[in-house]
Amino acid sequence: MSEGDAELEARLAEQEEFEPPESFVEQANVSDPDIYDEFEAEWPDCWEAAAELLDWYEGYDQVLDDSNPPFYKWFTDGKLNVSHNCLDRHLDERGDEAAIEWVGEPVEEENITYTYEELHREVNECAAALEEMGVGEGDVVTMYMPMIPELPIAMLACARIGAPHSVVFAGFSADALATRMNSADSEYLITCDGYYRRGDPLDHLKKANEGLGGVEHDVEGVVVAERLMDGDGFGHDYADNQHAYADLVAEQEGAEVAPVERDAEDMLFLMYTSGTTGKPKGVKHTTAGYLAWATWTSQAVLDIKPEDTYFCSADIGWITGHSYIVYGPLSLGTTTMMYEGTPDYPERDRLWQIIEDYEATQLYTAPTAIRAFMKWGSEFPDRHDLSSLRLLGTVGEPINPRAWKWYYQHIGDEACPVVDTWWQTETGGMMITGLPGIKKMKPGSAGPPLPGLDVRIVDTKGEQVEAGRAGYLTVQKPWPGMLRTLYKNDERFIEEYWQEYSDTDSSDPDDWVYFPEDGAKIDDEGYITVLGRVDDVLNVSGHRLGTMEIESAIVGVEGVAEAAVVGGDHEIKGEAVYAYVILEDGFEGSDEMREEIIEGVEDAIGPIARPEQVVFTPELPKTRSGKIMRRLLEQIANEEELGDTTTLRNPEIVEDIQKQVQDD
Ligand code: WT7
Repeated sequence: MSEGDAELEARLAEQEEFEPPESFVEQANVSDPDIYDEFEAEWPDCWEAAAELLDWYEGYDQVLDDSNPPFYKWFTDGKLNVSHNCLDRHLDERGDEAAIEWVGEPVEEENITYTYEELHREVNECAAALEEMGVGEGDVVTMYMPMIPELPIAMLACARIGAPHSVVFAGFSADALATRMNSADSEYLITCDGYYRRGDPLDHLKKANEGLGGVEHDVEGVVVAERLMDGDGFGHDYADNQHAYADLVAEQEGAEVAPVERDAEDMLFLMYTSGTTGKPKGVKHTTAGYLAWATWTSQAVLDIKPEDTYFCSADIGWITGHSYIVYGPLSLGTTTMMYEGTPDYPERDRLWQIIEDYEATQLYTAPTAIRAFMKWGSEFPDRHDLSSLRLLGTVGEPINPRAWKWYYQHIGDEACPVVDTWWQTETGGMMITGLPGIKKMKPGSAGPPLPGLDVRIVDTKGEQVEAGRAGYLTVQKPWPGMLRTLYKNDERFIEEYWQEYSDTDSSDPDDWVYFPEDGAKIDDEGYITVLGRVDDVLNVSGHRLGTMEIESAIVGVEGVAEAAVVGGDHEIKGEAVYAYVILEDGFEGSDEMREEIIEGVEDAIGPIARPEQVVFTPELPKTRSGKIMRRLLEQIANEEELGDTTTLRNPEIVEDIQKQVQDD
């Protein structure tokens, strides 16, 4: 580091607040501070501002129908189509402009630009192929694909014909795929033969086929996109219901499929996410409210303009990619980047190379990535001209001030606002973050809630806590992008998100409060610092993993009697999985056993849930009433000072476990 850098770093380390850069404010999509008061005064009609960003076949009657909380309806009886909004309506003015810039793994230096015209054609042909295969309006189509162009094409094709999609992250296991297809009664799957990771081909169809083996109903059709180059394939034969994507689409050359008119409240997609219990939750998002939310936040927070080249480094298999690679950006008619590979292959400057090559204007990434960049060192971004960047964003977990400042300094050159955006799969899009052209920034705090949102930090009784005190995050009024229910499970929807702070017998919407299951605190200027999950959900590299899901995977391994999973601090991942395991008599805590447990978790969920440490113990620390003391296990994982252990039924076990963790 040069001396200048060191001085700069020292100065930034002291600084707690940052004004939005003047050059940014001058051109920001939203820069009038009155928006906060106006939206509050005009709620819920303020959300017409979001609806106005969309093209409607038929206007809506009511902005919000809150007659049956928490089953809210937005933009009632409006008619629209998401694929029309993301494609057709841009053709006249932006047909020749890039819609998607796809950057492949550097296997053969093949990058693809899809103009709006080209993407429109691909989506039409894919839609025609899906219809030909029998997919009809309302049929859930599962997609199990990595970051290849066929994924957003298939999503938009489904939206075009009114078939909801359910995208399963490609890194998830075969079991996870089967669980999700079963839960959604999904009879169609779009997947691929394989893909490249750090230059090596991976056999994805093997996993997909294993997953299909676990589907309990008939599967009508499977489409296989072929990503692998000649010679890299794994030689799978296709079953009778399996078709090569390219063949199906070739038969539909030039086909046009008119977008179906969808009702505002029709389901656009399902996305499964982890919760407290072992079963993933099928979060249901709808057509109008979701698209309005993704579009409005993309414009107001990410400051997207049609002429931008916007880069979000997430995977489309997660909600971030749905809202902020595909739907929000395309609805605004901009150019969205899609990067297939990892940030460190072929070298640790890969993202910076891409930003320079494409002159990207925004970067939206996760704190876990920023921590890795920091660790690798600023020489990698320093090699590249990043001056095209205008705004930086983060999402997925809290970002500590040091990482925030590194990002601000080394990537943004102090000329880009950094938006730290808090939201969830369930919220559809961003909820808490300062509008970058208006609000000053406080590293470590996500900022104030967006205009039109009523976010409060409360205690266990639902009373607002004082500034500076930790409490629970709640959202007290509905918003257009919110989930509508959990798929075919209204009861669990109420239990998981509403019960805690609502009067569930009431039909008055004021008695209904949404609880995201995060802890938070607020300062005297209304800036919110999110402290993390308060349920048994871990946040590993910005991904949500249920401890129960991991525990049940471990207990499924032969020889395991009981397991407890907690999160331990991790430099890059934020949180890492720590598993404490009791074996049945006759089984030994050997390295092989450890391997089997790790494999068991990878098979049930995927490599992201891989335990960092497996600790064998004859007992778990339990209270006198028999509850596992998770907090204690967390403290042990973090090698922290332990709290009071005298209330334990078996305090002697603690030292044993501690010793093992330290030895490893
Ligand atoms: C959970 C939601 C939102 C898309 C990616 C994750 C945590 C998310 C932040 C942030 C602190 C954050 C919360 C939330 N989280 N963003 N900016 N600051 N925490 O979506 O998998 O549904 O997870 O991620 O704990 O509840 P998800």
